[in-house]
Amino acid sequence: METIHTVAWMQQVAAEAQRQERILGLVPTMGALHEGHLSLVREARKRCAPLVVSIFVNPAQFGPAEDFKKYPRTFEADRVALDALGVDYLFAPAPEEMYPPGFRTYVHVEGLSERLEGRSRPGHFRGVTTVVLKLFEIVKPRFTFFGRKDAQQVRILQQMIGDLNLSTEIVVCPIVREPDGLALSSRNAYLNPEERRAATALYRSLDAVRREIARGGRDAARLLVELRKVLDAEPGIAPDYAEIVDAGTFEPVLTLRKTCYVLLAARVGGTRLIDNALIEQEGETFRVTL
Ligand code: PAJ
Repeated sequence: METIHTVAWMQQVAAEAQRQERILGLVPTMGALHEGHLSLVREARKRCAPLVVSIFVNPAQFGPAEDFKKYPRTFEADRVALDALGVDYLFAPAPEEMYPPGFRTYVHVEGLSERLEGRSRPGHFRGVTTVVLKLFEIVKPRFTFFGRKDAQQVRILQQMIGDLNLSTEIVVCPIVREPDGLALSSRNAYLNPEERRAATALYRSLDAVRREIARGGRDAARLLVELRKVLDAEPGIAPDYAEIVDAGTFEPVLTLRKTCYVLLAARVGGTRLIDNALIEQEGETFRVTL
C-alpha cells in the first residue's frame, strides 16, 4: 500500500487509473478505523481496483464547540489495518492541502442539509459536501462506498451527485454493530463503562419500533411512543431527535410508506451518537433493518 499525502500526487495516480480504464473505488473516512469502516473497505475491495481509502479529519464539518481537536486519531494502526486488507492507496492529505490559505468555495445542498443532523449541527453538511466533492474531483472514483449509519449524509451526497452531474456511483453498506446492538462509531471511544451500557438504548429503542411494526403498527406517532419509552427509561441518555421520515425527502411521515427511516440522535454524557433503522414495504408487510 502506498500512502499519499499530497493532492497533486493523488491526482496523478487517479489520472493513470483512468487512462487504463480501471475501476477505481474510494472509501472516504476520518480515520480511527473500526469494523464499520473496514466493512466498507472489504466491500470496495471486492468490486474495485485500484482501491483508495482516504483519511482526513475534515475541520469544515465540525462546529466551533465540537470535538475536532479531540477527535480520535490512530493513524499508524489505521495504516496497518488498511494494508492488511489489500488497499492500494491511502490518501491522507494535511489540512493545508485540502484547505490552502485563501480557500473560499463551499458546496451546499439546500433543504436536506438543514433538517435533523443539520439542525443540531449547523454547517456540518456544508463541510461534508464540500470535502466529499473535493475528494470526488481529486480521486475520480467510479464507485464510492458509504455506510447507512449516516443515512442523511448518504441522501445529501446522492442529491449532490445528481444535481452536479458527478460521475461516481454510491454504494451504501449496512450498519455494523457490537454484539449488544450499539452501532460502531469512532466516538464510542469517548464512552466510559456506564455510558457504554446506557448507549445500547439507541439500538433497543429502534428494536422496539421493529417489534411494534411486526405487531401491525403503522402510525408514526404511535411507533415513536414505543421508541421514547425505551429512551425515557434510560436516565443516562438525552435524546436530541427521533423521527420517522420518507427516505427520499427526509420529511416526517404520518404513516409508514414505501421506504422510510427511523432516525435517532442522542447524547450519552458528553458524547453525541446517531443511529437509524431502514423500513421497507414488502407487499402488505414492512421489513425493518437495523
Ligand atoms: P466517518 O465517520 O469516519 O465514517 C466514514 C464512513 O464509515 C461513513 O460512510 C460512515 O457511514 C461509515 N460508518 C461509520 N460507522 C459505521 C458502522 N457502524 N457501520 C457501517 N458503516 C459505518 O462519515 C464520515 O467519516 C465523514 O463525514 C466523511 C464522509 C469521511 C467526510 O468527511
